[in-house]
Amino acid sequence: MTQTRIIDGRAVAQAVREEVREEVSTWIAQGRPAPRLAVVLVGNHPASASYVRGKRKASAEAGVESETLVRDENISEEALLDLVRTLNADQEIDGILVQLPLPEHISEKRIIHAIDPAKDVDGFHPENVGRLLIGDPAFVSATPAGIMELLSRAGIALRGQRAVVVGRSNIVGKPLAALLMQRGTDATVTVCHSRTQRIEEITREADILVAAIGRAGFVTRNMVKPGAAVIDVGINRVEDPTRARGYRLAGDVDFDDVLEQAGHITPVPGGVGPMTIAMLLRNTLAAAQGAYR
Ligand code: GUN
Repeated sequence: MTQTRIIDGRAVAQAVREEVREEVSTWIAQGRPAPRLAVVLVGNHPASASYVRGKRKASAEAGVESETLVRDENISEEALLDLVRTLNADQEIDGILVQLPLPEHISEKRIIHAIDPAKDVDGFHPENVGRLLIGDPAFVSATPAGIMELLSRAGIALRGQRAVVVGRSNIVGKPLAALLMQRGTDATVTVCHSRTQRIEEITREADILVAAIGRAGFVTRNMVKPGAAVIDVGINRVEDPTRARGYRLAGDVDFDDVLEQAGHITPVPGGVGPMTIAMLLRNTLAAAQGAYR
């Protein structure tokens, strides 16, 4: 068999970020204001704060102006809703992102539903999810959009191919299934999840296998068709006393076990992860351009 190709998500993400930077620069050269993103961070969850710093830095590099609005973790739901409404009404703000998770006393659903769908660069609002499902132009959440971009740039054919998505979350599994089965993309899609029986019989049929179930090393060689494209969405912390921080990041795929069986495979880290910020930037530019109004 020909050698497995490891898909370099960092390189693809960098290429997308460069394209966005060029498009932003053209947009500004036409006399338009720089795209503007508002990022709302509630509390000081260390992982969230770190994601938000990453989004800030990448925005600056792409010529996207971002402002981070930090609020105390005790902010009331009503006060946070007011902030969202203020950002909705602010003509200078193109995109709004409320970093999740939110504190327990705040309903994430109520906050997401309050965001103007035309500014919903996360693609979490039900209007955008619904539009995606019926094939209308919509903001698509960053992780599934990033996976489609990786598949496309790796030259992986989808038309008439069997795609199996393991995981049914609202932000990855379900929107990804919708994208893969979209008219024009034309994959045949099966969605499996934690309760699926004899799951390996289904995954073994996959030409494209996407693991987004949140269990380290869940996908093993016996679950993979020879030559399949294997996309790993998992970011799981696994205890590792040999690391200074005490853990390492592991995907949902047992990479070493699957490597020689797959035709293409994404590593963790350095696969799907880096794509998310790149797609957020692209969504922010689209918001500025009024793409989904
Ligand atoms: N928390 C972890 N990932 C994300 C994301 O993509 N968007 C938001 N808003 N919060 C997150």
